[in-house]
Amino acid sequence: MATQAELNHSERQESFLQSLVAFTQNHRAEYWSGSLAQFLKDVVPADPQGVARSSHQYMWDMIRWMGEEDENGNFRCKLFDQELFGIDESIDRVVDYFKAAAAGSEVGRRLLLLLGPPSGGKSTLVILLKRGLEEYSMTNSGAVYAIQGCPVHESPLHLVPHSLRASFRDTYGVEIKGEICPHCRSRLEHEHDGDFMKMPVERIFISEAGRVGIGTYAPHDPTTADLADLVGSVDLSKVAEFGDEGDPRAWSWSGAVYAASRGMLEMIEILKVKREFLYLLLTLTQEKNVKVSRFPLIYLDETILAHTNLAEFRRFMQESENEALLDRMVIIQVPYTLNYRDEARIYQKLISSAAPAFREVHLDPHALHAAAVFAIMTRMHEGDDKEADMSRKLRIHAREDVEGHVEPERSRQRAPEEGLAGISPRFVINALSNAIIQSNVKSLTTMDVLLAIKDAIENDARIDPKKKRKWVDYLVLARKDFYNRWVKEDVHKALFVSFEQEAQDLLDKYLDEVEAMLDNRHINDPITNEERRPDERFLRAVEEKIHISESGKQSFRQEVVRKAMGAFKRGEKFTLDSHAQLHNAIQQYLFEQRRDVLRLVSSSARPDDEARQKISVVEKRLVDEYGYDSHSAREALNYVTTLMAQE
Ligand SMILES: Nc1ncnc2c1ncn2[C@@H]1O[C@H](COP(=O)(O)OP(=O)(O)O)[C@@H](O)[C@H]1O
Ligand SMILES: [Mg+2]
Repeated sequence: MATQAELNHSERQESFLQSLVAFTQNHRAEYWSGSLAQFLKDVVPADPQGVARSSHQYMWDMIRWMGEEDENGNFRCKLFDQELFGIDESIDRVVDYFKAAAAGSEVGRRLLLLLGPPSGGKSTLVILLKRGLEEYSMTNSGAVYAIQGCPVHESPLHLVPHSLRASFRDTYGVEIKGEICPHCRSRLEHEHDGDFMKMPVERIFISEAGRVGIGTYAPHDPTTADLADLVGSVDLSKVAEFGDEGDPRAWSWSGAVYAASRGMLEMIEILKVKREFLYLLLTLTQEKNVKVSRFPLIYLDETILAHTNLAEFRRFMQESENEALLDRMVIIQVPYTLNYRDEARIYQKLISSAAPAFREVHLDPHALHAAAVFAIMTRMHEGDDKEADMSRKLRIHAREDVEGHVEPERSRQRAPEEGLAGISPRFVINALSNAIIQSNVKSLTTMDVLLAIKDAIENDARIDPKKKRKWVDYLVLARKDFYNRWVKEDVHKALFVSFEQEAQDLLDKYLDEVEAMLDNRHINDPITNEERRPDERFLRAVEEKIHISESGKQSFRQEVVRKAMGAFKRGEKFTLDSHAQLHNAIQQYLFEQRRDVLRLVSSSARPDDEARQKISVVEKRLVDEYGYDSHSAREALNYVTTLMAQE
């Protein structure tokens, strides 16, 4: 028989296969090629808007294709759902940027700059947009056409001469923007005698690896970075063939700006590049062209998405000349999340793609949440907040109900500096990874994890001593205000998991004993099958929980029996709900009985078989129902016992 885990695994495979099938059905990408004449006849009339759209419009269409509108007409973007957590505000602003740019707003003429602390998801956000473009270009609605062989895969509509563009607009209802590139102009003359209707056109598919519609530029060494990396240079091997350095066919069109044409250009660590790069890029976004050596301006339509971290940004801002450049950028902050649940999801994601040695280590159910709580504390505003306020604010950020808390929306907002500094998800994951490698363990508890983080902080030379002390205090706070609460709750629940049934059994027993006592008869013990006297000690033990005195016990028992008889006559079952006082008594009786199990855990004497049995039942519940493994369940029981001793 398949185990639960195997079943889940094969179910997962099944659903993955189904999603692959769905993917191919949604992506029936048909290649098309033909002359411009055929293109204008067969392709353009079906969707002139789609053919003529700009890169910003294309991005926006892609984002819309990846999302959906809810019943209130609000757009929900799904592109980032499975990969980015807790930075919804930044994502919304990116989506808004594309919406506005697609509608023709002036923001489309400014460079989009993502600004945030390291390892905060900026690159991931850009990668998801790139993957989205690739996928979208495989769909019918995402079809892109280009002049075949064009180094910037430019729109075939660029071939339509200016003198005919007005009548094109009247015919198809769309405006043609852009100029033919020097390379295609030269081919048109040399290969087609200027007959543009014969120029070959094809459907293209956006591909980063294929350098089609996506370009990426990362400065290796900013001091030696050459503008040619972006815009290409003369290809000396071809100069001989074409006889002239100024021949566009002798130009090496390998620059990232050409690859990115029709789609997007990712500029990594943009503020590290020389200022001339920046001017070129700002002109490219604003004017949609670049100027290289002997060519006329080259028209390029692409979306530039740049990212940088805060340290670099501050350095950049120190030079006053740079300030003016800011007007030509749209800056979107991508801070760390302040929601510890989202933060824990990030860890979960990073772990699930880590090496097996890491992935297969068992973490107790609060390990990642406790680490996340700590990480968020390091990111919060360092005011003169008291610790209690900090824990409270942290819970509000995680949308938890906090008593006495009145303004949910406003108080959930970030203070300006919050989330821009502090510990990154990477730091936490590295700390865990080190702990696992060093100790070669198969199971980590929350305490192990907090200790691993403490180790990482203390051994990190980049953190100054004052901050180290403060962060270690935060670890203590995360444990005190969060972990302790969570683990106690688990153990408590595990002690009481079959409370309803156990309580009912106990109530039945109480009633049997009381009836026998009142009738002055013996009881047939179901286990030993022997006659015995009613268990007065048991009855008193229950009754004492609600302070029934020796002299008052008789009338209390008579009243209980009367109520039980009444229920019986009405055909009802006598339950805890039938008698509030008894309800209380039995609840307390059970709880204290169970607390004894916890005392057994800590008792120095070697536990007897019965005690061991009781403990193992609770451990098993922690494992079966609350996500512990046997090691961490035992640790949790020990931990809670120690906590209780301190209370
Ligand atoms: N908010 C987040 N949600 C999900 N994953 C995140 C988030 N922030 C960072 N990560 C993960 O952390 C790692 C580093 O993020 P990255 O995108 O490279 O950051 P950046 O480019 O801002 O330095 C990546 O694996 C990324 O998936
Ligand atoms: Mg990055």
